[in-house]
Amino acid sequence: MAYSQSHICLLFISFLSFCQHPLANLHKTTTLFGSQLTSDPNTTTNPTTFFEVTKPIRLPKKTKPCSYLILQHDFGFTYGKPPVLGNYTPPFEKCPCQDYEKIVLVWRATCRAKQFDRIFGVWLGGVELLRSCTAEPTKTGIVWSVEKDVTRYYSLLMSNQTLAVYIGNVLDDTYTGVYHVKIYMHFYPKNEENGFGEIKMESLEDSYHSNADLIYPISRSLPLNDGLWFEIVNASNVESKEVVIPQNVYRAVLEVYVSFHENDEFWYGNYPNEYISASNLKGAQGNGPFREVVVALDDHIVGAVWPFPVVYTGGVNPLFWRPITGIGSFDLPSYDIEITPFLGMMLDGKSHKFGFSVTNALNVWYIDANLHLWLDKGSEKTEGKLLNYNLTPLQFYLASNFTGYDGSFHANVSRSIKSTGFVKSSHGTITTEWAQDFNYSNIMTSGNEGNMQIVKQNIHYNDNVNVKSPSSVFSFKSLKSFPFYFYMDIVDQVNGTYTSLSKLTLGFNEKKVKHSDSGASVSSLKNLQSAQGDMVVKGDLVVRGLGSTQQLYRYHGNEFCYFRNISSSNFTILYDKERYNCGLVAK
Ligand SMILES: *[C@@H]1O[C@H](CO)[C@@H](O)[C@H](O)[C@H]1NC(C)=O
Ligand SMILES: *[C@@H]1O[C@H](CO)[C@@H](O)[C@H](O)[C@H]1NC(C)=O
Ligand SMILES: *[C@@H]1O[C@H](CO)[C@@H](O)[C@H](O)[C@H]1NC(C)=O
Ligand SMILES: *[C@@H]1O[C@H](CO)[C@@H](O)[C@H](O)[C@H]1NC(C)=O
Ligand SMILES: *[C@@H]1O[C@H](CO)[C@@H](O)[C@H](O)[C@H]1NC(C)=O
Ligand SMILES: *[C@@H]1O[C@H](CO)[C@@H](O)[C@H](O)[C@H]1NC(C)=O
Ligand SMILES: *[C@@H]1O[C@H](CO)[C@@H](O)[C@H](O)[C@H]1NC(C)=O
Ligand SMILES: *[C@@H]1O[C@H](CO)[C@@H](O)[C@H](O)[C@H]1NC(C)=O
Ligand SMILES: *[C@@H]1O[C@H](CO)[C@@H](O)[C@H](O)[C@H]1NC(C)=O
Repeated sequence: MAYSQSHICLLFISFLSFCQHPLANLHKTTTLFGSQLTSDPNTTTNPTTFFEVTKPIRLPKKTKPCSYLILQHDFGFTYGKPPVLGNYTPPFEKCPCQDYEKIVLVWRATCRAKQFDRIFGVWLGGVELLRSCTAEPTKTGIVWSVEKDVTRYYSLLMSNQTLAVYIGNVLDDTYTGVYHVKIYMHFYPKNEENGFGEIKMESLEDSYHSNADLIYPISRSLPLNDGLWFEIVNASNVESKEVVIPQNVYRAVLEVYVSFHENDEFWYGNYPNEYISASNLKGAQGNGPFREVVVALDDHIVGAVWPFPVVYTGGVNPLFWRPITGIGSFDLPSYDIEITPFLGMMLDGKSHKFGFSVTNALNVWYIDANLHLWLDKGSEKTEGKLLNYNLTPLQFYLASNFTGYDGSFHANVSRSIKSTGFVKSSHGTITTEWAQDFNYSNIMTSGNEGNMQIVKQNIHYNDNVNVKSPSSVFSFKSLKSFPFYFYMDIVDQVNGTYTSLSKLTLGFNEKKVKHSDSGASVSSLKNLQSAQGDMVVKGDLVVRGLGSTQQLYRYHGNEFCYFRNISSSNFTILYDKERYNCGLVAK
């Protein structure tokens, strides 16, 4: 029984723990690859294209982009080595235009042969532009691309910078897959018909929706080995960086990038430590299933991130993600923290510290951030003050009813953070109120003598910014929810062979609401993936298996809509319906 009892945990460590520090796990884990599957399709012609379902980037009409390759590299044994560097130059010399409406980064990669999925990052001047996970290759080869709208990094993209790209890849006799990567930038000039050259007074509200004047990296500095992210290895680990900002900033936003690996790759399924020691469940990961990324300025908590549970391309059952990959896995979400109410603490021309920690963290979290700053063009010095600050401590409701290995845990956690501050600038006195409100619920059930696990989790994550100035009053809100369901059962264990049955539901929903004197606007995204399948595993190999995935993506915005209903099974797309017309979007 000891053998079977350890299986769930074994699965969490081995099959579910890719896209991470490879060396730490390479030798103690087994691996699942397309190349090892008997169901791997025998395509000898073109490599398979893997993709993440997302809405297309809206590009200006009638303009041709200025495009160029910013990096080409074959990532072989890169783990623990310095990032690959490049000299980035803005497009001025290559294209006549100097004013761009949209800037798109395109990552394009191919790989053939056995390889893990690997976490990677792309930084420009230390500012992170993309956090992503590679697709898992097959013996016949795969290709995938990630297109990201990077217009918000405009100011950075207009000057010479050092480009840094890090993938933690490992090569040995078995894992021979080299990632062949090309990164392009596409600069779409402003369309003259859209008002190019028009001189328009920008209102304060417009400036809140425009790109920052400066972006400072809150990441580790080059030269170094590994990625530029900080590594948070335990619950008491705080990583930080000092920064001095100009004295005429009137708005600041910290954009936080987060990814979780190794023992915390499946944090939402981690058991409480007490249960692990009481049941002697071998190999299980502990500290329970709740995690919060805490962001501090000079050791005061200014905001938090309750992360979306990204499942990487090797996660749960790798057959789910061929060719449709998990929500967010090719372009991990970043999270904005409004720093404006706290600007008064930072405008003294001195150095201030941004720190990151993760409640209950196990090794390892990769975290860094970009500080977006808006400068007051009408004055050389702004000043500010924090007026009000209210942080509710984490409120936990915990219950469990275990007998032996089997039973349930229930955890509900909530928190709200609210701050108000003013900044005096040439726009007058701007008062900003910033509120975050979080609810988390997780019900974890273990059965079948510890071989079956069900996790039902939801995170509600609301951000709210209210701005008052002498000339305008406006607000913007983001209401997010991340429903998550996971089921896995291990059956038929004979001679080191077993079958795993699994189901997964993953949702990313976000409603954005803007209110101003000129009215309200709403956009909403509902992105829901369900996957189910089985795999027969013997030793290191998936002997056979089947994964099926269905995804429904519904975006309804002011300017356009996008709907996609797609499904794949056994490497094949079953149906794929796409619509752009708002009127036709199903409720
Ligand atoms: C999956 O597709 C392969 C052909 O590519 C086929 O041989 C196999 O039977 C299919 N598996 C299932 C479970 O349908
Ligand atoms: C795969 O395709 C190649 C080339 O068409 C063929 O020679 C080979 O027999 C095929 N293998 C299988 C298992 O069908
Ligand atoms: C940017 O880099 C290019 C190419 O190396 C160089 O010609 C140019 O002078 C640099 N510009 C600045 C402002 O340093
Ligand atoms: C947590 O990690 C930090 C940084 O590596 C280390 O200094 C500290 O000893 C660790 N604390 C515990 C309790 O393991
Ligand atoms: C434990 O709690 C869960 C969820 O509340 C419930 O479904 C289950 O029946 C309970 N089990 C026992 C043995 O009480
Ligand atoms: C826990 O949260 C869920 C979902 O928000 C809610 O339905 C449930 O009533 C909460 N339970 C407790 C005991 O607070
Ligand atoms: C969290 O729950 C509380 C109490 O039920 C509710 O007032 C609040 O609106 C919820 N917040 C979110 C983000 O769902
Ligand atoms: C398990 O392996 C042994 C030795 O290879 C073999 O004799 C036996 O038949 C196998 N049992 C099953 C159920 O496959
Ligand atoms: C998605 O397509 C499937 C297959 O055609 C269909 O059964 C389902 O109703 C569609 N869902 C929506 C919301 O359109």
